[in-house]
Amino acid sequence: MSLLKFYTITIFIAVFCKGFPQAEHVQTFTKPNKYGGQSQRSSCVSPNKYNRKPIVMIPGVLGSQLEGKLNKPDVVSILCSKQSDWYSLWLNLEQLVPWEVDCWVDNIKMLYNNETRQVRNNYGVQTRVPQFGSTYAFEYLDKDKYGIGSLYFAPLVDYMTCNLGYTKLKDLFGAPFDWRLSPLQHKKFFKNLTTLIETTYKNNNNRKVVVIGHSMGNMFMYYHLKRKSQAWKDKYIDSFVSISSPYFGSMKSLKALLSGKAMIGFLPKLKLRSAVRTAPAFSFVLPRPDLWPKDKQLLVVTLQRNFTVHQYKELFKRIGCEGCWDLWKDNGYATGSFTPPNVPVHCVYSSMVNTAETLIYDEDLFPDDSPSIVDGSGDGTVNVFSSSACLKWKTMQKQPVYNVSLPGNKHVQILANSTLHHYLNSVVL
Ligand SMILES: *[C@@H]1O[C@H](CO)[C@@H](O)[C@H](O)[C@H]1NC(C)=O
Ligand SMILES: *[C@@H]1O[C@H](CO)[C@@H](O)[C@H](O)[C@H]1NC(C)=O
Ligand SMILES: *[C@@H]1O[C@H](CO)[C@@H](O)[C@H](O)[C@H]1NC(C)=O
Ligand SMILES: *[C@@H]1O[C@H](CO)[C@@H](O)[C@H](O)[C@H]1NC(C)=O
Ligand SMILES: *[C@@H]1O[C@H](CO)[C@@H](O)[C@H](O)[C@H]1NC(C)=O
Repeated sequence: MSLLKFYTITIFIAVFCKGFPQAEHVQTFTKPNKYGGQSQRSSCVSPNKYNRKPIVMIPGVLGSQLEGKLNKPDVVSILCSKQSDWYSLWLNLEQLVPWEVDCWVDNIKMLYNNETRQVRNNYGVQTRVPQFGSTYAFEYLDKDKYGIGSLYFAPLVDYMTCNLGYTKLKDLFGAPFDWRLSPLQHKKFFKNLTTLIETTYKNNNNRKVVVIGHSMGNMFMYYHLKRKSQAWKDKYIDSFVSISSPYFGSMKSLKALLSGKAMIGFLPKLKLRSAVRTAPAFSFVLPRPDLWPKDKQLLVVTLQRNFTVHQYKELFKRIGCEGCWDLWKDNGYATGSFTPPNVPVHCVYSSMVNTAETLIYDEDLFPDDSPSIVDGSGDGTVNVFSSSACLKWKTMQKQPVYNVSLPGNKHVQILANSTLHHYLNSVVL
């Protein structure tokens, strides 16, 4: 990390926050380094004695690094660059400070064409995800690894390499993707994923592959499996480990569209919201009207009127986001009916952590202010009835479905949980 970067962040934090706020992605189980981030792993013993199944991992929303390259016709402020070589667009706290966030929003936001129903990057912005095939882009979200919000899959990847003897790019692979998009805009990614799974199988003596997804990554895998032939699945897939997947949707996503998602406590929520509202992925994981529990249909309460899961059109109109309605119409049902994937499934989910079920707003401040929240059970991000929905496949497919309940774990922190690690040990060896 450059010294300049360190100073920028430090000064920013000193000025705008009282101490380090708790970020949603932050985990506190490893020793923080001197920048308040995560220390490098200590060197690990890599016993090479096991007969392991190869693994492909898939991360969730906000969960892969993104790079951008600019050659823009115009910019929103004189502080913004028109031109750049490839640089880190996500996650890069430097660009999220108040005096730069408008530039960042303009670079990461998507444009929707309501005639062709296609989304694209803003004019003059190119994006890419680094190192398809590797877990690199989602072990840490910030290239420099330091700092809040950066740590993601590293604890799980480390467990696999350090404790179980896996080798990256030999029997351990990753499928990062542009998490702004829904599966419907990801044809190329699914081609890549198919090839990755097939070559992983071939290069490991024709051993079937264990796919491990987290959060929205599972929805991508599920979408993919539904489109593959049974013969393909029988040949290549050992099992699908679904960790904390929002099968029926997530209230967290609705809250992000309505009021913004700070992601990291001190960031300017409403500015980030304007980018979130253009990303199809957030519509893709909204609560599904056809699947959401009958006794939890009331999602938003304001003094003047309430909105149920069947009233997105009215809700998005009320918040002045017609684009949200378009994106939801196109992407909300992307995974289709809740039929089983017909591969062995390890349905891993947490519960007992407060998770929003209804958002209650003060009329005047709706939707810009943070709502009061009626909580239910879940992992803080995904409601338990959504993440455990994979259990329903038990009676719907002939392949086994394993019930892996890990109560008390938060949405991201679960990836570092040793009970999960030991369970995975039994799956892959
Ligand atoms: C596209 O958006 C414009 C401007 O909001 C609107 O006037 C038009 O009716 C929309 N067209 C479709 C097909 O929705
Ligand atoms: C597909 O794979 C290629 C080669 O690894 C990579 O360069 C490209 O970024 C990937 N594209 C997507 C959308 O995954
Ligand atoms: C909205 O729902 C709440 C909670 O069920 C209820 O008390 C209130 O009367 C409803 N308000 C309107 C305007 O329907
Ligand atoms: C899954 O396991 C949990 C914890 O053991 C149990 O409470 C729950 O009833 C099980 N669910 C199903 C559908 O088997
Ligand atoms: C890991 O998960 C288990 C099962 O939910 C839980 O009992 C345990 O406290 C968790 N461990 C840590 C360190 O959070």
